[in-house]
Amino acid sequence: MSNTRIAVIGAGLMGHGIAFIFASAGYRVSLHDAHAPTLESAPKRIAALFELLGRDPAGQVNVEYHLDFAKAVANADFVFEAVAEKPEVKQVVFAQLEAHAPAGAILATNTSAIPIREVGKVVKNQQRVIGTHYWNPPHLIPLVEVVQAEFTSQDTVDKTMALLSAVGMSPVHVKKDIPGFIGNRLQHALKRECIALVANGVCDAETVDKVVKEGFGARLAVIGPLEQSDMVGLGLTLDIHKVLIADLDRTPGPDPYLVEKVAKGETGMAVGQGFRKWTPEQAAEVRARLNRFLVDAARNKSQRA
Ligand SMILES: NC(=O)c1ccc[n+]([C@@H]2O[C@H](COP(=O)([O-])OP(=O)(O)OC[C@H]3O[C@@H](n4cnc5c(N)ncnc54)[C@H](O)[C@@H]3O)[C@@H](O)[C@H]2O)c1
Repeated sequence: MSNTRIAVIGAGLMGHGIAFIFASAGYRVSLHDAHAPTLESAPKRIAALFELLGRDPAGQVNVEYHLDFAKAVANADFVFEAVAEKPEVKQVVFAQLEAHAPAGAILATNTSAIPIREVGKVVKNQQRVIGTHYWNPPHLIPLVEVVQAEFTSQDTVDKTMALLSAVGMSPVHVKKDIPGFIGNRLQHALKRECIALVANGVCDAETVDKVVKEGFGARLAVIGPLEQSDMVGLGLTLDIHKVLIADLDRTPGPDPYLVEKVAKGETGMAVGQGFRKWTPEQAAEVRARLNRFLVDAARNKSQRA
């Protein structure tokens, strides 16, 4: 049992997974949600994660559930905020943390897109404010982007990286508080080109996905794009860039093709039509395939550890 005490604010999709990560690694966790039914359902959802990943169910007693915010954070060394993605909601939570959490506690936000400097501006000692961007589902995807705002101290970065490593996560240090951090910039740079290829009639959406999954995507989990460039030689990457870079999509703002789809209500699997047509069975199969893959990867990782 570690002496470092964790508080998690928000027991939704991300928050209950973050609470599980620490509880299953032997940390005492206080979980708070302002919405009583969500908090009441959290023990069952966390128990399901212990079962899913074959962890010792005794670890469930490491989680305390508090509807009272002040009690949840009173003894915390680290607080992970995972409430709604709205600046005003997060700022209220950080003002409450300023009032009720210990003065030395590290305050981390799981925001996907709001600048860390915006979330943390209500805190007096901003050196202890940091971004920890987990990926969904946090209990299955090991990466956490640890985002250093201008005001975040190196000590806060070091302690956060060390804590995340100690519980088996893979933290990376993002040295600037920029939109999309690293992962979403990469993901959306790729999506921009994917959409442009379809919008310009080069291929359909299914073909784009096939090229990624059965082409270069097949190796991405074991070799990153820059490792791969080093492997084949930077001269080749330069030669390709001389021909290709100027031709890549540079539409300023969202592609009109995407804007039009959303305006027509073609928003994806939930409605049966997005970039592609989906039956409910096909949508369920994709979700099940993704879940199976992530669960197998997480189980294999914990067996190797
Ligand atoms: N869902 C994802 O794929 C994903 C991935 C990475 C990061 N994030 C980020 O994580 C955060 C949480 O996302 P989520 O998907 O878990 O949302 P969610 O809606 O599932 O959960 C948010 C929870 O916060 C609670 N809440 C709202 N205001 C509160 C307050 N003032 N005090 C206490 N609790 C409050 C809600 O009751 C809800 O249970 C967001 O910032 C989101 O951008 C989400």
